[in-house]
Amino acid sequence: MRGDRRGSSAGSAGATPSWGEVREGGGAPLRVSAAHADPYRAIDRQPDPAQYVAFLEARGRTASQTRLRGRFLRFCGVRPGSNVLEVGTGTGVLARDVAAIVGRRGRVVAVDPSRVLVSAARRLAREQGLDGRIEFRVGEGARLRVPAGRFDVALAVTVLLHVPDAGAIVRELARVTRPGGVVGIQDQDLGSLVLDHPERALTRRILDGVAARTIVDPWSGRTLVGQLAAAGLTRVRLTTDVFQDTTLTPFTRSMLERRAENAVRFRLASARAAARWLETIERLAAERRFVMTLNFYGAAGIKPVTPGGPR
Ligand SMILES: C[S@@+](CC[C@H](N)C(=O)[O-])C[C@H]1O[C@@H](n2cnc3c(N)ncnc32)[C@H](O)[C@@H]1O
Repeated sequence: MRGDRRGSSAGSAGATPSWGEVREGGGAPLRVSAAHADPYRAIDRQPDPAQYVAFLEARGRTASQTRLRGRFLRFCGVRPGSNVLEVGTGTGVLARDVAAIVGRRGRVVAVDPSRVLVSAARRLAREQGLDGRIEFRVGEGARLRVPAGRFDVALAVTVLLHVPDAGAIVRELARVTRPGGVVGIQDQDLGSLVLDHPERALTRRILDGVAARTIVDPWSGRTLVGQLAAAGLTRVRLTTDVFQDTTLTPFTRSMLERRAENAVRFRLASARAAARWLETIERLAAERRFVMTLNFYGAAGIKPVTPGGPR
């Protein structure tokens, strides 16, 4: 078996997970003013916002994430000449892919509330020869300063799981999409993170407990179809990808290490139990018995030509 490869699923398959539970400033306390300690709610207030730039770029570069993005953009109907909005662009990983597809006849507007991320996104686009091809803006997904009906496609990828009112962002995506255009959203679902480990109760405590404390909605992936339907979109479709790792790739290893660290910080496990848990994972990998999978969900819907019209 090989790790980090496509697994079987309905529709399509396989991708590196979007590790939402990024380590908080190398162990420093999370800094968010809101009630939930999800660092992505307020990147610029984290002790070391630059680490998120590095993380998002590292994640975006992995082959399986690149494949995942390509499949999702095809699923959403992004094509040469499309006029596309991306909300929660981060460092612009997806926006750069979109710019390459839509070409000079198309248009890409990419929005994020973090000044640090938007500034990095501008620099990275410039460095990759996409200067002037993507319009990056600092802004909130639920309050876009864009007239209604402007875009052929409006997207948000691994954003909704980090926001307290995902519905408001989806409604805003729908507002700025032209009638007949597409709203596409994608999230992993951390409730579907499966790891074979003999200490099952401890595993659930670490995986679910840390996700619940560091991600606003760890189960966001499974809600996406409902989110689009609630925003009035029609012909809503779902595509499911499964990330699978059977070799404990460096990406997976660092994610599980962060989980274990955070489990200790949140008093979900003792330091000794967390260390033992990680040792077992290393042993399973050495014995070629490591198995971890995670579902990614992508949903797309059409903005009705007549509001409230037939579905
Ligand atoms: C996990 S990152 C994903 C970034 C990018 N979409 C990607 O896949 O690389 C989540 C992003 O959502 C952004 N975000 C958080 N709250 C937001 C909001 N209210 N509106 C729009 N974006 C938001 C964060 O600043 C961050 O860039």
